[in-house]
Amino acid sequence: GTSSALTHENFLHCLSYHSSNTSSISEIVYTPNDPSYFSRLNFSLQNPRFSSPFTPKPLVIITPFNASHVQAAINCSKKHGMQVRVRSGGHDYEGLSYVSEFPFVIIDLINLRSINVDVENSTAWIEAGATIGEVYYRIAEKSGNLGFPAGICPTVGVGGHFSGGGYGTMFRKYGLAADNIVDAVLVDAEGRILDRKLMGEDVFWAIRGGGGASFGVVLSWKIRLVPVPSTVTVFTVNRNLTQNATKLVHRWQYVAEKFEEDLFVRLVLQTISIDGKKTIQASFNSLFLGGVDKLIPLMQKSFPELGLVREDCIEMSWIESVLYFNEFPSGQSPEVLLDRVPLTRLSFKAKSDFVKEPIPENGLEGMWKRLYEEEVGRAIVIMSPYGGKMSEITESEIPFPHRAGYISLIQYLIYWEEEGNVTQSQMHINWIRRLYSYMTPYVSKNPRAAYLNYRDLDIGTNNNKGTTSYARASIWGTKYFKNNFNRLVHVKTMVDPTNFFKNQQSIPPSSSTW
Ligand code: FDA
Repeated sequence: GTSSALTHENFLHCLSYHSSNTSSISEIVYTPNDPSYFSRLNFSLQNPRFSSPFTPKPLVIITPFNASHVQAAINCSKKHGMQVRVRSGGHDYEGLSYVSEFPFVIIDLINLRSINVDVENSTAWIEAGATIGEVYYRIAEKSGNLGFPAGICPTVGVGGHFSGGGYGTMFRKYGLAADNIVDAVLVDAEGRILDRKLMGEDVFWAIRGGGGASFGVVLSWKIRLVPVPSTVTVFTVNRNLTQNATKLVHRWQYVAEKFEEDLFVRLVLQTISIDGKKTIQASFNSLFLGGVDKLIPLMQKSFPELGLVREDCIEMSWIESVLYFNEFPSGQSPEVLLDRVPLTRLSFKAKSDFVKEPIPENGLEGMWKRLYEEEVGRAIVIMSPYGGKMSEITESEIPFPHRAGYISLIQYLIYWEEEGNVTQSQMHINWIRRLYSYMTPYVSKNPRAAYLNYRDLDIGTNNNKGTTSYARASIWGTKYFKNNFNRLVHVKTMVDPTNFFKNQQSIPPSSSTW
């Protein structure tokens, strides 16, 4: 409409005024009239569920090259009543980094992605627009004995990933990505640039697991690198129902969380077809931080039922194991990790759960039954073993509270080809909701815990039309953060009392009236 066109004009005017010394401002601002607007918008957009013609689009996309561009974007958005969506890797499951119902701008950090690795001190400064693939590559380029414990998929952005937790193949040994952050630079709602010392320990605590989007724009992180051995071992052992999969999965729940912390064995469960007959395949997918000679006796002692043999195992470097977990062909150059184009771009919906007691065999069989029911899409359940370092860190150390007492983290995923067919999409979404409902008796309760980085708007949202109450926000807030939700509200009230940084699942200030 005319009023939004006006806002948008004034906004652009404001931007050029605020960055008067920057001749390049026009190069970093994209409006719908620009030929490259849609390619900018879609480049870092992982879930096509949110790229239909019906999805609300930003009035402006800004791709800053420096902190002053970010400051200008914040100041002008505030002045002209625009919402801000900050995007790093664009992997948000519900598209919150690039969709809003209100007139909004996207601050897309794709040009802020430098990485400086300091081998001597085992640290690195990383700009928020970098992907974890780029981080892994830059570390390995400098040292074969350093790594970082973050997620598996290389195109995930560090802006969202680190600020929401971030776990992968080394989390039983070293915890989450967010557990290994030692400093950060943030632009707050006043447009101030704050490092750890200036933002203070409360804000620094909040952005390591509480989600960055509620508190400001993270410009960069300083991380602590971790030691990795020159040789690691990987394996993937597949077992279907005729090969005892149900009993093995059941047994896995008792042993995998107790393995020594160098050993990570996750489970990928899905329906496959063998000779035209459907079965469930359980893939035991593993990274061991050591050589095969040590791994085999370990597995024979703790999980002999799986029958792991030397031929199942491959020794490699840690960076090669990153490629292996993403199913790149062996011999692929690690440079592929610098490619920001997502490996798959199917529409999806996902949900998460945490398990405290082993799911009994009949409970698993009910899950198989539901996996069989989803015929059109591609349904996957991934179970990651807890224990190790995850049990040693206290629940309040950072906002991510899911620590001791859990045996696994489950992710349910359904992917499908987007054909703009709303009924089809709804069918897949309904399927995953039914599976989630079926799982209720087997997973954590009061609250039913959820992982922020597997964002799920089904578990509750703020009222984005008017006001949100503390009570309403605490419905989803306690699922993600348990008791840490209260401290997040306290920090929000201090750093952004007018609730400038808001979305359907942002932390509200305590006297919230938006
Ligand atoms: P995106 O840019 O979409 O941002 C996500 C949220 O963070 C949004 O609310 C956004 O506004 C905010 N944000 C982003 N940058 C910010 C910044 N600089 N300052 C402030 N706020 C910012 N997780 C995991 O733990 N382990 C894993 O192995 C994987 N694997 C995986 C694979 C695939 C294919 C997907 C799509 C996702 C994952 N994830 C994951 C989940 C992932 O951790 C989660 O989606 C992250 O939030 C993605 O971060 P991005 O920066 O890419 O997202």
